[in-house]
Amino acid sequence: MATTVIPQIQTSVSEFVAKPRKMLIGGKWVDAVSGKTFETYNPATGEILAHVAEGDKADIDLAVKAARKAFESGAWPETSPSERGRLLWKLAELIDQHQEELAELETLDNGKPVFFSRIVDVPTASDAFRYYAGWATKVEGSTIPISAPGARYLAYTLREPVGVAGQIIPWNFPLIMASMKLGPALAVGCTCVLKPAEQTPLTALRLGELIMEAGFPDGVVNIVPGFGETAGAALAAHPDVDKIAFTGSTEVGKLILNAASGNLKKVSLELGGKSPNVILQDADLESAIPGSAMAIFFNQGEICCAGSRLFAHKSIFDKVVEGVAGFAKSFHVGPGIDPANNMGPLVSQEQQERVCGYLESGARDGAKAVVGGKKVDRAGYFVEPTVLVDVKPSMKVVREEIFGPVVTAIPFGDLDEVASFANESIYGLASGVWTRDISKAHRLGAKLKAGTVWINCYNVFDSALPFGGYKQSGWGREWGKPALDLYTETKSLCARI
Ligand code: NAI
Ligand code: MG
Repeated sequence: MATTVIPQIQTSVSEFVAKPRKMLIGGKWVDAVSGKTFETYNPATGEILAHVAEGDKADIDLAVKAARKAFESGAWPETSPSERGRLLWKLAELIDQHQEELAELETLDNGKPVFFSRIVDVPTASDAFRYYAGWATKVEGSTIPISAPGARYLAYTLREPVGVAGQIIPWNFPLIMASMKLGPALAVGCTCVLKPAEQTPLTALRLGELIMEAGFPDGVVNIVPGFGETAGAALAAHPDVDKIAFTGSTEVGKLILNAASGNLKKVSLELGGKSPNVILQDADLESAIPGSAMAIFFNQGEICCAGSRLFAHKSIFDKVVEGVAGFAKSFHVGPGIDPANNMGPLVSQEQQERVCGYLESGARDGAKAVVGGKKVDRAGYFVEPTVLVDVKPSMKVVREEIFGPVVTAIPFGDLDEVASFANESIYGLASGVWTRDISKAHRLGAKLKAGTVWINCYNVFDSALPFGGYKQSGWGREWGKPALDLYTETKSLCARI
């Protein structure tokens, strides 16, 4: 297959993809120990986009050594908090300065519309670093008045970095995922080994260049692209890694947990979802309908918190389905790099097949596609935005995460009924409630077993707002202050005085 020829992109982007990309270990850009490379594809065309060094266990070992050295030498944890904050802030500024370049690179590698890469992905990534830059000087312990008898004591706690952090990220928001993982870890003084997804390694590697340009010491951030079963598994199992943070499938989350049990490294997991989005009878449908459509169709539905189970009160059900289906029809589906398109391809052929497999299973089980229902007949990994009705709770399309532009719509009668429908899932990542009745909104919000409840909005994220899941959607909370806890140990000091 020929390398993709892409018109109308920045020269810096075409130059970046034209050269085989290396991995970042100990401040140097190096080839894989094995000398192997792998290809990353442009999902809008199926053509090869770039060649990338393929890390495996040997490279992970070197990266962990480099991170360990940067940690134990004090090169990072003993850098003053203010200096750590300054570097994180500088990195945020460099990301903003390269906004257009990073946006185009993200779109070529992942597929998403460049409009969204520009206004969502890149600014969210820089904001993550800016937000955690502020935290670097504010990670405080406390003084504790203890009552142990026989003497006087001065007791206090310190918050110390946990050590070397391994971070494994997926392909749906590659730059954001890298930034939200690195930001809190670096703020508190951890050193990092980041393993980007094999489908989308490019923006993480460009970020690595900006990290070096900002002036982070060698070995503080190491980036090893490669496959999950090799590089990812080696990082999760590594005996000298103190903490592993993972975002991806629930299935792999369980593997990470097993791999981490060898040295009982700390684990945080942000996994799958099948999030309920509930429209009550009194909702303002002018905002609830487009809001619910974007709850599922944003990012081609490749988002862990997608509102993939739509529940609408039976009195408005037909109107809601018609509205969301109409919204689905209005999408311009095509290559994300063309600004005329507002829905891109799925990330890979594998993902396209997975999603189409669900569409077929839905059809076999008796679900009806009001709109969409199949892949788009053209090159690239496109799937039609789809609304399924006549679905039952037992169907796979209702129970399992599809991770594509497919929503199931189900009518309900009252609040108790919809709360029990909504909670009937192994997942508990997010949820949405649309209503004009403020009491009902909060009563339902309290009943939903989900890490996030959006009221009269959906997919609203902020660096300051904790995010994570109940049940099999994961362990721990990222973003906000709780993310700092994932990367710190609390040490109690007790002095007899
Ligand atoms: P995945 O969970 O296999 O991949 C995510 C990351 O984990 C990648 O960096 C991958 O290289 C790594 N990985 C894979 N196997 C590993 C292993 N044994 N040890 C360590 N690391 C490993 O996700 P995949 O296969 O790309 O997508 C499958 C499904 O997962 C999707 O259809 C979707 O349902 C879900 N998913 C959820 C995401 C989320 O944001 N929660 C993101 C991506 C996928
Ligand atoms: Mg996988």
